Amino acid sequence: MANSIKKAWYKEMAVYQVWPRSFCDGNGDGIGDLKGILSKLDYIKSLGVDAIWFSPLYVSPQKDYGYDIADYRNIAPEYGTMEDFKAVLDGAHKRGLRVIMDLVVNHTSDQHPWFLESKKGKDNPYSDYYIWRKGRMNNKLPPNDWRSTFAGPGWQYVPERDEYYLHLFATEQPDLNMDNPKVRAEVKDIMKFWLDMGVDGFREDVITFISKREGLPDGFPLPVAAGVEHYIDGPHLHEYLMEFKDVWGKYDCVTIGEAPMMTPKRALKHISEGDEQELNMMFHFQHMEADCMFVSWIKMPFNLKKLKTVYTNWQKQLYGKAWNALYIENHDQPRVVNRYGSLKYRKESAKMLAVMYICQSGTPFIYQGQEIGMTNIGLKDINQYEDVSTKNIYHMARSFGVKDETVMKLAAYASRDNARTPVQWSDEKNAGFTSADKPWFPINPNYTEINVKEAQEDPDSILNFYRKLLKFRKENEIVIYGDYTEYYHERDDLYCYGRTYEGKRMLVICSFSEKNITFTAPPAYDLSFGKCMICNYDDPTAVAGGCVLRPYETRVYLFE
Ligand code: NOJ
Repeated sequence: MANSIKKAWYKEMAVYQVWPRSFCDGNGDGIGDLKGILSKLDYIKSLGVDAIWFSPLYVSPQKDYGYDIADYRNIAPEYGTMEDFKAVLDGAHKRGLRVIMDLVVNHTSDQHPWFLESKKGKDNPYSDYYIWRKGRMNNKLPPNDWRSTFAGPGWQYVPERDEYYLHLFATEQPDLNMDNPKVRAEVKDIMKFWLDMGVDGFREDVITFISKREGLPDGFPLPVAAGVEHYIDGPHLHEYLMEFKDVWGKYDCVTIGEAPMMTPKRALKHISEGDEQELNMMFHFQHMEADCMFVSWIKMPFNLKKLKTVYTNWQKQLYGKAWNALYIENHDQPRVVNRYGSLKYRKESAKMLAVMYICQSGTPFIYQGQEIGMTNIGLKDINQYEDVSTKNIYHMARSFGVKDETVMKLAAYASRDNARTPVQWSDEKNAGFTSADKPWFPINPNYTEINVKEAQEDPDSILNFYRKLLKFRKENEIVIYGDYTEYYHERDDLYCYGRTYEGKRMLVICSFSEKNITFTAPPAYDLSFGKCMICNYDDPTAVAGGCVLRPYETRVYLFE
């Protein structure tokens, strides 16, 4: 099998994700921007990544922080100008970094000119750009029982049309009607616009939601996202994605589709290599459910076996057929150290988690701040939060009678805002993020200890560990292309897997325990013949048959 795996640049790359608003403020207004990004390109390059994915930079009323786009071809003024963007694109390319844009086409902002026209009436040329329906019960109730992913109804009534429009996310994010060929033509034009400018690909926002089942039937009654079974993998998804590929397939670029509720079996329908492949890879969510049910708000105890089962499924089922996108953080997920690691062993566990996912087969994505082990801020008051889904969930829970204290405790663990605090660059005022008096969002008070400057200077920092790990991956094809075998699945304190490629073998060992634990090497791996390439402790001594692993210890052995 190993020999049949196809090589490609997008498989070998590692990607750094920038959420612009909180990355770096270059003009002193308290908001991250393109000038700030430009000033940090050398830093990004120094991590050893090959590309940057920018969360949306476009003009937007920022109801969902950029995922509500009002103009697909312009830059949000608070982030800069098109000239600033071109300078970043050029600066990235000069450093050998590719640029991946966020393509958000399941919905627009309700301030997008298409929607402003569409809502005027049925004889408008943009009338069918969105999903409009008459309601039930003489138009008194929405057309069906679908509910928004962000809590609340999935439909909004508009008096001008005397109809409802569908919004799977915030009320201000109307869903586009992808069944309309004119809408698909617009999407293709947008893709062409950015690709012609020189960008290197797209991360496609909830792209698997774009085709809704005909007739929009009622869904399973859930408080959040009811109806989801009718659009997670809709009837025309393949057709529409193939149409988009007519555009991007002509460029040397990469496409990564965001795919909530995706399983390996269904993913293979979409991303198996060959003529019918719709996207290069997909972001699934299953591995982010090891401490919750579907979303971090439905919190459960961390379950390592659940995590390992998911990883093993994806690694095994996609190997040689399709490609994995690997991540443990992004702008929608609370910080991983709080979830799968340990605050007591923050450095050790952050490094271990890095090894756990980066040493698998796939393209790794690293979210801003993850490389220094940033943690949840855990704000105490709902008025301090900015995220629309956090606020909606808060109000929904309160309306069910849940106490403020209880919801706030959960938000401190589960809110997306935990990942959206400004990047901690130094221990200076406002963590070096902005020269303004007040940043747009609170800075985690732990910036005096956790910051890039400190991490740069400490050879043992999480940051320098990431650099070493990414270099190791780049220099050893086995990390990228090797096959995968899991060991000791039943253990709930240890994750261990092996990789093989072209006669070489690699063993990855990750302790998930705060105590010392015993590790016995799997029969085929005599540790005295292997070379310990990566470890998060100083002296990785071992005998042939195994070793004692210290809290959250990780080791990677290479057998050549
Ligand atoms: C997924 C994005 O990552 C998230 O931030 C956004 O709120 C939703 N899609 C809606 O666009």
